[in-house]
Amino acid sequence: MVYSYVIFNSLFVLPKFTIRKGSMVMEKCHIAIAGLGVVGAETARHLIERQAILSEKTGVPMMLSAVSARSKGKDRGFDMSGLTWCDDPVALTNIDDIDIVVELMGGSDGPALALTKAALSSGKHVVTANKAMIAHHGAELAKLAEDNNVQLCFESSVAGGIPALKILREGLAANEVSSVAGILNGTCNYILSEMEEKGLAFDDVLKEAQALGYAEADPTFDVDGIDAAHKLTILDAIAFGNVPDFEKLSITGIRDVTDFDISYAGELGYRIRLIGRATAGGMAKVAPVLLPEDSALAKVTGALNAVYYEAEPVNVVSATGPGAGAGPTASAVLSDILDVASQRKAYSFGKAVSALKPSTASQTNAAKSCYYLRLEVADQSGVLAEVTDVLKAHDISVETLIQKGHETDGSATLVMIVHETDEAAISQASTALASVATVHGVSSSFAVMR
Ligand code: HSE
Repeated sequence: MVYSYVIFNSLFVLPKFTIRKGSMVMEKCHIAIAGLGVVGAETARHLIERQAILSEKTGVPMMLSAVSARSKGKDRGFDMSGLTWCDDPVALTNIDDIDIVVELMGGSDGPALALTKAALSSGKHVVTANKAMIAHHGAELAKLAEDNNVQLCFESSVAGGIPALKILREGLAANEVSSVAGILNGTCNYILSEMEEKGLAFDDVLKEAQALGYAEADPTFDVDGIDAAHKLTILDAIAFGNVPDFEKLSITGIRDVTDFDISYAGELGYRIRLIGRATAGGMAKVAPVLLPEDSALAKVTGALNAVYYEAEPVNVVSATGPGAGAGPTASAVLSDILDVASQRKAYSFGKAVSALKPSTASQTNAAKSCYYLRLEVADQSGVLAEVTDVLKAHDISVETLIQKGHETDGSATLVMIVHETDEAAISQASTALASVATVHGVSSSFAVMR
């Protein structure tokens, strides 16, 4: 049933609850949205068309009251009449009866940060999907929220429609988390699974993904791992009580994953996925990794996201779902709005900002792992011995080896998985191998996650 909010206000009777805005008690929840792209418009549409249903879940009449976006005239698929319009998003914070400001403009700084600070400072709750802003300024903003007795919520910033933060902060609140790992970028997962399925090169699939609207015209944030790293920064902070610190992450994207690697990995029984992983031991890393083809994460294909939590006493919990798009992201934005209106309070990062500790993550990962290496070599006697001599000098032992000769030019490709070693040893061995005359190049090296 569709209610206009005017009719709703007069006809709909709810048990009388009160919710707190800053230090004031309020009996209705007025919402403002800044940013009316696909997610903002979808959120607005639900707030208007499903107002009664959503209000029943909170016990407080909720209504969208004001909006701000770049252009006023555009048809966004919902009725904007009756809403206050502000050209300047920060002006939304000057409207006294607004309780929740929903920031959906994006960008780590600029107008989004100015609006969020102004809203929190003026005692308004903030709901945002802005992973870049939270990854870079999360602690400062969460402190501002605490100081003003309001909530800063960002469920939609990580893994879209998957309640990835609520699982960690609420469902697993009593656990000691040892690891959070996941497929946190749908664009990269789509590209890698299309390369795998169709045997296509990265550039060709990227063009296809752009044509289909999965990848942005400037795909840098997605394919270079930055978007996944923003999300991992937030997961790491909540899982391990760290101050969110984007700069501490080690980030490698998928531009250097070739169709050859995907094919050789397949021959060895693995699939390549871009994985963000943070551990209690201080790893916080986004990189392409090989996963056994029968593992749950390897089976996640297309633009889906998935998150795996290892914790005690629960053991392992996982969730898979759509990580982007209007519906899934609006679903998470609305869940935050419902939390605030229902007075379900939570510290933004699972504990008070004063209790968070500086991140101990390091760019160089000391944890041991098996590695996949691909070398281009001269196809002549003694080459294998030269390669294994270098590996031996770095205490690296070969687990599996495939050689593919290329008769046309007398070269060969060596693909191997080596037993557990550390990143420093792989990096030093790769440098040493590159200087062996019969080694034409070390083309790829990826960790194997079992
Ligand atoms: N561009 C992201 C992705 C969605 O491809 O997963 C928004 O974070």
